[in-house]
Amino acid sequence: MGKVSIKSAGEIALMRESGRIVADVLSLMAGAIRPGVTTRDLDRLAEEFIRAQGGVPAFKGYGHDSRNLYPATLCISVDDEVVHGIPGGRRLEEGQIVSVDVGVKKGGWFGDAARSFAVGRVSEEKERLLRVTEEALGRGIASVRAGARLHDVSAAVQEHVESAGFSVVRDLVGHGIGRNLHEDPPVPNFGTAGTGMVLHEGMALAIEPMVNAGTYRVTVDADGWTVRTSDGRPSAHFEHTVIVRSGDADILTR
Ligand code: MF3
Ligand code: CO
Repeated sequence: MGKVSIKSAGEIALMRESGRIVADVLSLMAGAIRPGVTTRDLDRLAEEFIRAQGGVPAFKGYGHDSRNLYPATLCISVDDEVVHGIPGGRRLEEGQIVSVDVGVKKGGWFGDAARSFAVGRVSEEKERLLRVTEEALGRGIASVRAGARLHDVSAAVQEHVESAGFSVVRDLVGHGIGRNLHEDPPVPNFGTAGTGMVLHEGMALAIEPMVNAGTYRVTVDADGWTVRTSDGRPSAHFEHTVIVRSGDADILTR
């Protein structure tokens, strides 16, 4: 692992502005998600809003394979899709759960957050999956403070998820964030409390539990992006960008 950067007050102010735009996009989605809307409609709405705010979509053009860069503003992942679903002509339907992940760059600094929504009325299992995943993110964030260990956060997330009978995705993890979308350290959603690096005030972390109703195993579609559960059961995803403090973490994407 490389060096983990400490953000200055001025840098955090810039990240807070990117985080504010990210949070506003997710609020906008809460009002726009309904049966019949296409995922492309949602993507367009988000991109127009971000650009009107002076930001740039952080995911568009991102990727390690230059022949298959990420093509959209949002990742929109429905039901058994875990993350990185590509928006398109698909229409949302009552009873689905839909995860929306958004990143923004403004003034050279990034913000990143995600939230899963119910489309109309959903099954009790899906309701519980949404609630437990959001709670797990809350438990993780509650463990973030200067002097704690990184895997205290991971263990808090894992414990909450598994005690509810759900599973934590292993193949994808959270990350440091700042001048880049992905920085050190990787932030797994599973691990042993009391291990991992010591957290210091001013570190910025994107904590993002991906929680499956069934197996933690996932596969990637032929599009090279869409991650889905191996057993076809539903998955949820919540994410915030936070700053490590001596007391409670500062949540930039609330
Ligand atoms: N929140 C996700 C992440 O931080 C979204 C990345 S989508 C990508 O990894 F297209 F940018 F890869
Ligand atoms: Co992220």
